[in-house]
Amino acid sequence: MVVSSATIDNLLREREQYPVPDVFREHALVRDDRLWEGAERDPEGFWAAEAEKLHWIKHWDKVLEWNLPFAKWFVGGRLNVSENCLDRHLRSPRRNKVAIQWEGEPGERRSLTYHQLWREVNRFANVLKGLGVRRGDRVTIYMPMVPELPIAMLACSRIGAIHSVIFGGFSAQSIKDRVEDADSHVLVTADAGIRRGNLIPLKQTVDEALSGSEIVQHVIVYRRAGIDVPMYPGRDRWWHELAAVADRTCDPEPMLATDPLFILYTSGTTGRPKGIQHSTGGYLVGVATTSRYIFDLKDDDLFWCTADIGWVTGHSYLVYGPLANGASVFMYEGAPDWPQPDRWWSMIEENQITILYTAPTAIRAFMRSGEEFPKRHDLSSLRLLGTVGEPINPEAWRWYHRTIGGGRCPIVDTWWQTETGMILITPLPGSTMTKPGSATRTFPGVSAEVVDEHGRPVPVNKGGYLVITKPWPAMLQTIFKDPGRYNEVYWSKVPGTYFTGDGARTDEDGYFWLMGRIDDVINVAGHRIGTMEVESALVSHPKVAEAAVVGKPHPIKGQALVAYVVLKTGVARSSELSKELQRHVRAAIGAIAVPDDIFVTDKVPKTRSGKIMRRVIRALVSGQDIGDTTTLEDAGAVEEVRRWLKEVEGDRPSA
Ligand code: WTA
Repeated sequence: MVVSSATIDNLLREREQYPVPDVFREHALVRDDRLWEGAERDPEGFWAAEAEKLHWIKHWDKVLEWNLPFAKWFVGGRLNVSENCLDRHLRSPRRNKVAIQWEGEPGERRSLTYHQLWREVNRFANVLKGLGVRRGDRVTIYMPMVPELPIAMLACSRIGAIHSVIFGGFSAQSIKDRVEDADSHVLVTADAGIRRGNLIPLKQTVDEALSGSEIVQHVIVYRRAGIDVPMYPGRDRWWHELAAVADRTCDPEPMLATDPLFILYTSGTTGRPKGIQHSTGGYLVGVATTSRYIFDLKDDDLFWCTADIGWVTGHSYLVYGPLANGASVFMYEGAPDWPQPDRWWSMIEENQITILYTAPTAIRAFMRSGEEFPKRHDLSSLRLLGTVGEPINPEAWRWYHRTIGGGRCPIVDTWWQTETGMILITPLPGSTMTKPGSATRTFPGVSAEVVDEHGRPVPVNKGGYLVITKPWPAMLQTIFKDPGRYNEVYWSKVPGTYFTGDGARTDEDGYFWLMGRIDDVINVAGHRIGTMEVESALVSHPKVAEAAVVGKPHPIKGQALVAYVVLKTGVARSSELSKELQRHVRAAIGAIAVPDDIFVTDKVPKTRSGKIMRRVIRALVSGQDIGDTTTLEDAGAVEEVRRWLKEVEGDRPSA
């Protein structure tokens, strides 16, 4: 590696430490290490004490039953999630407090108090019941970022139905796969979503997804955009018509803590998305506790988690965690730079948002558009900042701290996954000294280690695999209908521990530094995309014989996808082909999975056992050191890939 003065400078700056500002500590819920130390001594006792803060219809008999790899939290306990997020607050002064403050992209505003939200959820729960939805049934939700999305989720939880929310950017094919896997008979959608001033035709995509399939019997359509959409008689009903005639109250179903609350599909290393299944009690305890302590949630906060609810961050930190705490959340429908790159900052100023939780990719995009946009607004209402989704580069961290936080707000860099349900590695803003680029320490009651392939802890500052060594309450229960795959993917790589698939190191203070995915999952703009998934989409095109997809560094998205394709014999290369293949991937998965570059090649390099050498391709594409190649059966392979890359890239096609 060439060490330039810039590198040295960077290394020095990364040793920078940011102590907790005194004014912040003074009012923080957690001000020292006592909570952390107590939880370390007795994790189950810690979680049980936190669980007591929720409303239980029946108390649990046992905090944890751990039969590796299956954990049952709060065994025997009964509770209802919507009751905890709503009814509980109606019996308190929070009754008329704002639960959701919403802003549409065109500028409309709606605020729903806890009481109003409760009313909507009750009605919609009765709508679902009226269509025959019963406890344990799966309801698919494919909606834009409007309050009806959390209303639909909470309504499911009220009657014990399991929701499966699909991000509004996914294609018809992705919806079809997920509906089939979940065997879901009811789907909730909207006529269209609105983004960057354009209509996103959600209902049309749903129609395409469901054509020729008998699984979904009822489609409920919320009118968001007010456009004309075909309504299929017997199958499609308008939300507002059903809600208008639904009963006003619906008793919350007493669910077992171990009953599933939702499924959320996520990319893995194979072509098939995994239905990550989360529990009712453990999940709620996990997200309620982490929301409270990490975001230091107080009654006068307005908390804005910018994630779309289609991803886990929106589930846990826009909906369930904050509402379980009776917090006020802000929710925004549209694009960050619409109509101007200062949209976010103007909403923060207007609404006096106090806590902002976003992703490094967004921060980098704002850095690029320039300081003048945040500078136009008074951001002094902010008191705490958070990030999630990928490692944050120290430069972006410092920009966030200075330009958005005015140098006054602590930053919580929170590490977690769809599977973990809740944040596992993070600073506590009133007690943890932070270092730009490090997610710092485990949350109280959580145990993590960095190990080698034999499960042995690696020395300080040496890279290894991040594993979680004890069960935690919001951990996934299983992969829906596939416990074998659950065991294999997460609990068999380093026996006895949960395998995260992330590389990490710990420093001399025991702080964790995340180094990105070590498997074939690429983090594009904070969204996990399985290379295999994109490869199978590419080879499903009639002209493509084989495909290899890797990630390469991208200044804003963190990583971008690059695809290498081998065409079928007789197919001529053409300048239009890349575009055609990009369209094809968009239709198969969605815009987030479209490779930036597509190279046509005669072969893709493989190991002797026939596996595509993605790791080597990826490393060379990124201009990185290729690291340990001993697992490659053929050491000459590296050279071969190098030669191959030169050939391919010399031959750069139209993309
Ligand atoms: C990455 C998102 C570094 C990581 C909540 C993980 C991070 C994957 C961080 C999960 C962070 C998330 N620092 N990397 N603070 N947060 N990641 O399932 O690679 O969409 O495995 O969940 O994002 O992505 P997922």
